[in-house]
Amino acid sequence: MTTKAKIMITGASGILGRAVHQEFKKYPYEIQAISNSRPNDERISLDLCKPKALDEALNDLHPNVIIHCAAERRPDVAEKDPDGSWHLNVKVPEQLAKWAKENGTWLIYISTDYVFWGDQAPYQVDAVTKPINLYGESKLAGEKAVLGQSADFAVLRVPVLYTTSPEYLSEDPVSLVAENILNKGLGKHDHWSRRFPTNVADVAIVLEKLVRFYYDHHDMSGIWHYSGNERYTKYEMALLMGEILDLDTSEYVPDDQPPQGAPRPYDCKLDPQRLEKYFVLPQSIFKEQMTELLNPYKRGKSC
Ligand SMILES: NC(=O)c1ccc[n+]([C@@H]2O[C@H](COP(=O)([O-])OP(=O)(O)OC[C@H]3O[C@@H](n4cnc5c(N)ncnc54)[C@H](OP(=O)(O)O)[C@@H]3O)[C@@H](O)[C@H]2O)c1
Repeated sequence: MTTKAKIMITGASGILGRAVHQEFKKYPYEIQAISNSRPNDERISLDLCKPKALDEALNDLHPNVIIHCAAERRPDVAEKDPDGSWHLNVKVPEQLAKWAKENGTWLIYISTDYVFWGDQAPYQVDAVTKPINLYGESKLAGEKAVLGQSADFAVLRVPVLYTTSPEYLSEDPVSLVAENILNKGLGKHDHWSRRFPTNVADVAIVLEKLVRFYYDHHDMSGIWHYSGNERYTKYEMALLMGEILDLDTSEYVPDDQPPQGAPRPYDCKLDPQRLEKYFVLPQSIFKEQMTELLNPYKRGKSC
């Protein structure tokens, strides 16, 4: 990179966007962090669903790279508000991609393993997509909207994400398990869906490397998969967390039926082979990360 690249991060107040912001701050980039309801000293507030305001902001900030993290990522919320979710997950990336193409900006769109049905894992980057719920459908439509504008853009698919520094327990699907065992005590936990919990800090490292390789003139276009490599059901996560917290786990109940609410896939393991050809992938150890997450909640500790 000869000049300081301007990196726009949308969803910069979300669990992934915060990690991406922290990672990119380690390097000489100029960061443009966009949030909606959670601005702060480092993040501006912009409702991406307001097309005129979005175009004005893009023309004003003129990023060189856009990392588009903002989305409605909760499947049950997406089912309840299909129009709003479709706008955010499809129309917004389409507008970003159109502007990016016209202005020579590179765009990375964050997508999900939920573009797959979950019955044919592991999934390669060119595997046939078949979303099982509206959230997955909208994210797949977002991918198509982005790559339809330019085949040079990139899509990074990731599975269930967690952070070790949530703003509140239950901010992500993994810390929600922790909240359930801490506040509700015993209970049933999904032991049907196979998940590959992935640390947002690792995804952020991958994103910075994608940008770096792009600036080093590698072809980083198209679809990429990145995933944690340890498999857990939510029941197994609960057992691990209970052990870390020194709780009695003997009455946790494994639920072998598909979860209630919006349909969830069984196993969407993403194969990261294509990425592995470029660099060594970061791989946090889930137990270590959960120990860090839960340390403030151990008995006898105030939080
Ligand atoms: N979390 C997961 O398990 C998971 C799994 C697979 C893929 N993904 C994908 O990863 C990406 C990041 O997800 P995440 O977990 O970080 O999401 P998140 O924590 O729910 O954060 C969502 C972000 O989107 C922003 N946002 C929502 N509506 C907006 C609007 N109208 N205008 C501007 N910004 C808006 C929010 O801003 P404010 O909070 O400031 O309002 C927030 O920064 C998404 O594309 C998601 O589909 C997530």
